[in-house]
Amino acid sequence: MSQTEEQKRDEEGSRRNFLKWAAGVGLALVVAGVAAVTKSLWTPGSASSGGTGTPGFPKYKVANISGLQLNNPIVFNYPLDDQPSVLVKIGQKAAGGVGPDADIVAFSIVCQHLGCVVGYQAQGASPACNSSYRAPGPVGYCCCHASIYDFTNGAKVLGGPTPRPLPQVTLQVDESTGDIYAVGMGPPTIFGYATGSSDVSNDLVGGTPVS
Ligand code: FES
Repeated sequence: MSQTEEQKRDEEGSRRNFLKWAAGVGLALVVAGVAAVTKSLWTPGSASSGGTGTPGFPKYKVANISGLQLNNPIVFNYPLDDQPSVLVKIGQKAAGGVGPDADIVAFSIVCQHLGCVVGYQAQGASPACNSSYRAPGPVGYCCCHASIYDFTNGAKVLGGPTPRPLPQVTLQVDESTGDIYAVGMGPPTIFGYATGSSDVSNDLVGGTPVS
């Protein structure tokens, strides 16, 4: 039985629709495949919130200048997730300070003596562990054995048994948004990660923990 002209037109239309559908599915699969490969190749660094910092360190947004309050510290982990640091606006020009008044600084707060966590004390304040002490300026104070670090001067040691300053976090300010980023860290190596190397990027990979 021969097909009518109408039947032939219907079959031709169905074939064209099928080919369009198949092409669409194929394209979708290719796009999905590319997306999956791209995702698998992109491995975010520790504490990363976009981009990279100085070689070996992640770039991490800590705060925005508009949200900072004087002597109100912000604790964050950097460069590794278990390495606490503090960012604070200390109200006076500081070595390595950023912002309009160069008074925003950040340091590792892992004490260089034996690894306790250092607390921030504003000028004239006393730590909970030592009410008779009055901070002569913005300092880091370790309650374990009373090591004191000068936050105006690269966390230079002001007192106590600690042999070294705290590592200072390198900060960068995005002038257009006011966002403050941690982008690196200066020596010494964070306590517990000493490797004998002067390459502080060992902090990022963890180095060799010291027991
Ligand atoms: S651990 Fe900080 S002073 Fe000893």
